[in-house]
Amino acid sequence: MSEPIPLARPEIGAREEELALEVLRSGRLSLGPMGERFERAFAQWLGVEDAVAVSSGTTGLHLGVRALGWGPGDEVLTSPFSFVASANCLLYEGARPVFCDVDPQTLDLDPSAAEAALGERSAGILPVHIFGFPAAMPELEAIAARHGLGLLEDACEALGAVDSEGRRVGARGNLATFAFYANKQMTTGEGGMVVPSGPEVAARMRAERNQGRAADMGWLDHGGLGFNYRLADVAAALGVAQVEKLDQLLARRAAVADLYAQGLAELDGVATPLAGRGAERRSWFVYPVRLAAGIDRDAVIARLAERQIASKAYLPCIHLFPHLRELGWREGQFPVAEAAAAHSLALPFFPAMSESQVARVCDALAESLR
Ligand SMILES: Cc1ncc(COP(=O)(O)O)c(C=O)c1O
Repeated sequence: MSEPIPLARPEIGAREEELALEVLRSGRLSLGPMGERFERAFAQWLGVEDAVAVSSGTTGLHLGVRALGWGPGDEVLTSPFSFVASANCLLYEGARPVFCDVDPQTLDLDPSAAEAALGERSAGILPVHIFGFPAAMPELEAIAARHGLGLLEDACEALGAVDSEGRRVGARGNLATFAFYANKQMTTGEGGMVVPSGPEVAARMRAERNQGRAADMGWLDHGGLGFNYRLADVAAALGVAQVEKLDQLLARRAAVADLYAQGLAELDGVATPLAGRGAERRSWFVYPVRLAAGIDRDAVIARLAERQIASKAYLPCIHLFPHLRELGWREGQFPVAEAAAAHSLALPFFPAMSESQVARVCDALAESLR
């Protein structure tokens, strides 16, 4: 029996163990110095003034929505081809996600579709850098500026991507959120980071993640509504270690993507992720191939599983989940996103994947199509 190949696997080594142990031995398991150390290391790596650590990408997005003041009566233009949290964070505050179709090549929010969906209640744009491909920020920022809209970037899948103007995703001065679940470019187990749009927003987020306590308040003092969205210090320790090796982690992911591109180049019926049009600036989060129409994706997944290879239909469109259908969204509204959702397949993808593992996946995929 061959070794199973998982969909994702984090790179946890001696440095993560050392720093996690440092926290455990310090007794400062929450609100200790490791949290601030992680925020500083992350901000420095990204090239931004400040960063606010939170308990997940979802909680970071929620704080972003609150900082922009989006609420009941507000509509926010966003992508239906995303992970559900990018729409749920709007629902938490009573704002309405208004989905717009995606670009067929980048699979990111199509600026012309966003412009066409503008209405009287439009309050903002929430672009998602899906699969690590940088969204068309200059175009979206121009729309936002023309119509006085707020911007919140969901960069949860895009740490390390560089946009068309050579700037790192998340470093354009907009509010942006990253996520550190175990399949992400770097992980803290669970965790997230928000890049605030300025010092006031940062202070507000630090208070809101900590039950509404401002920096100068005591434990039982609360200056307003807050949440427990703090990141545990053991998780922050993993984050510090992961930032230290982030460049290598990203380079390994890109190398594995290259191996896949070579291994699948001749395979009929399987399109590899976009090359050109800025693809070299993407950060590799997953390796999603697109199966030709007519190929039974579930059968392919089952045949790969027989060979101990994990794969996943990736991603379902979020406007078709029950709680968004209740708001009136239906099949057929976003043909580009729905076609991508119907035919995409994520293959195993992680930094330590060997050449022979990639070859095994490519061979198994070819056999699964016969
Ligand atoms: C696009 C996108 N948005 C938001 C999230 C939410 O992040 P988390 O799982 O850390 O809450 C994720 C992560 O899965 C994501 O991929």
